[in-house]
Amino acid sequence: MKLRNLIDFNDLTLGEWDELYELAVRIKKNPAEFRDRCRGKILATLFYEPSTRTQMSFQTAMMRLGGKVIGFSDPNSSSVSKGETLRDTVKIVTAYSDILVIRNPIEGAAYASALYSRVPVINAGDGGHLHPTQTLTDLMTISELKGSLDGLTVGLCGDLLNGRTVHSLIRALGRFKNNRFVLISTPELRLPDYVTKDVGENGNSYIEVKTLEECIGDLDILYMTRIQRERFASKEEYARQSGVYRLTTDKMKLAKPDLAVLHPLPKVDEIAYEVDDDPRTMYFEQAENGMYIRMALIAKLCEHERTGRSPAYPLPEGVCCPNPRCISNHEKYLPRLTKEVSGETRCCYCDSRL
Ligand code: CP
Repeated sequence: MKLRNLIDFNDLTLGEWDELYELAVRIKKNPAEFRDRCRGKILATLFYEPSTRTQMSFQTAMMRLGGKVIGFSDPNSSSVSKGETLRDTVKIVTAYSDILVIRNPIEGAAYASALYSRVPVINAGDGGHLHPTQTLTDLMTISELKGSLDGLTVGLCGDLLNGRTVHSLIRALGRFKNNRFVLISTPELRLPDYVTKDVGENGNSYIEVKTLEECIGDLDILYMTRIQRERFASKEEYARQSGVYRLTTDKMKLAKPDLAVLHPLPKVDEIAYEVDDDPRTMYFEQAENGMYIRMALIAKLCEHERTGRSPAYPLPEGVCCPNPRCISNHEKYLPRLTKEVSGETRCCYCDSRL
């Protein structure tokens, strides 16, 4: 596989996605066949933010492939607490390991890490920006349930502004054909423009609605999300948004018999407890798939050779990115890197329009 780093799902070609999916399905059917695939390799997991599923599924994925795991789940237990830069941490840890998984609350942190890494880097979530391995998990689950990633009506409900899983999933499904996205949120938590702007290609489209009741009967997939408390500036702002959307058994009665309800998890109060027993809820199966698709990803990326010393970049001048949550505004040595997308200049780290 040509792919070296997975920072954004769109780093993958669709051929590479097929390759990963087919391998994940083979691993799921017969995990024992792969138990020595990464023997002698070491995975480093740097989690600057809390995680249950992503961190543990990466760790178990590597162990089930015969490899070993190092890392931290709390930066305060590492030299980050003494003020070490992201660049230095990455240079050190990638001297010790064969593949790096990073979760960080700052947008673009995974992209920045890949600049200085000697081994493949996987983005396990960068602030409210992207979460591509959750997207691999979601696409694997949808493919298994629906047999296709084309022609689906997909409802996405909740915190569409801050939900990185939603951003990654829409961008990914937007590369397939004739999907219709129904965006269910309050006006304050609408999807950011940089995501909606890319939706209109390949016969895909979107509408925005305010309630679950008005659309649930049309959906093939309902992707529920939590209101991301940790992304709000104040408790009061969070309180105004929490509890607005709640999936109940009454609402499930309006849905199709073959609706699949997904959720990246953790869930808080947006799905009533009794809905968990509805056979159309697939979020626990979805989380299990996360381990198989991450096994496939690790197995493929571990085939890459370690590079030599990381390249030197010129120190930046002036302000680059208008997004205060972008890593380029936090780690001041980072080079100013831009790209052209759909006729616009965007920040390479966080995708903001410049
Ligand atoms: N879906 C997900 O990213 O869960 P964690 O935060 O528990 O890793």
